[in-house]
Amino acid sequence: MLKGKDLLSIHELSVDEVEEILSLAKELKAKQKAGVEHHLLKGKTLGMIFEKSSTRTRVSFETGMYQLGGQALFLSNRDLQLGRGEPIKDTARVLSRYLDGIMIRTFGHDRVEELAKYASIPVINALTDLLHPCQVLTDLLTIQEHKGKNLKGLKMAYVGDGNNMTNSYMYGAAKTGMTFVAATPEDYQPDPVVTKNAIEDAKETGASISLVTDPKEAVKDADIVVTDTWASMGQEAEHEMRKKIFAPYQVNEDLLKGADKRVIVMHCLPAYRGEEITEDVFEHFAPVIFDEAENRLHTQKAIMALLMAD
Ligand code: CP
Ligand code: NVA
Repeated sequence: MLKGKDLLSIHELSVDEVEEILSLAKELKAKQKAGVEHHLLKGKTLGMIFEKSSTRTRVSFETGMYQLGGQALFLSNRDLQLGRGEPIKDTARVLSRYLDGIMIRTFGHDRVEELAKYASIPVINALTDLLHPCQVLTDLLTIQEHKGKNLKGLKMAYVGDGNNMTNSYMYGAAKTGMTFVAATPEDYQPDPVVTKNAIEDAKETGASISLVTDPKEAVKDADIVVTDTWASMGQEAEHEMRKKIFAPYQVNEDLLKGADKRVIVMHCLPAYRGEEITEDVFEHFAPVIFDEAENRLHTQKAIMALLMAD
């Protein structure tokens, strides 16, 4: 179903395609743990364009390609002609002549869309200012591992900045039937177009998507609490100002008192202790958070295999 397609946004995936990615991720994880080879991308090459920093994304995609029998090329915009002004549409057409897939992490979402429009090979969005689909698909797998395969009806509360993670969580929740509530300051709500799309998508699965400003209201009886940095990549100059604005939105022990007793806390990382999450809450939930980090590898292997295998 996904063969030859791009993965730019969870919104563009069907409910069945989301399920297909999660099932294959689970299978590839089990195979890897059992030491079974699964060279689904033997002889294939993935180009990885990075216009922003990364630890998890770079290492998990590169290692994932190797484990699938292929290879990955790290392409920093500091080295590419793209960084000196070569148009993205030319880069797309050139790379399509050499590679079997392109992964890109960049700023504006329109850059990924432009790349995908001109590339004749699958393009994977590895984070834009608007969306981070690979991370949220990973989070869905991690929630299945900790809360059971059927995500319908689980309550997920997001607390903090309405950013690329929040936008993708709305799409992820909508496709899997979850009850999603984001608590953000009034002026930092998630993207309005994404919110509208997610509310529309939610009709198919019975999910619900709501935006509030009170973190306690969002967290009440939540099965999963998630947060993310208050200053995303590109917002470094606003960090000090944001620390003041977001102070009431910290995930701490007091806030979690209102959540379900078996709540899990997740974080896509990197985490800033003492800001969006306290050290004690982070360390208490570290086993879940590092499962989440590990699952980037398995989920992205599934994505690459589905998009790029013959
Ligand atoms: N969570 C995430 O995408 O991490 P990196 O920025 O390290 O890739
Ligand atoms: N919202 C964060 C996510 C980092 C993985 C950022 O865009 O910097």
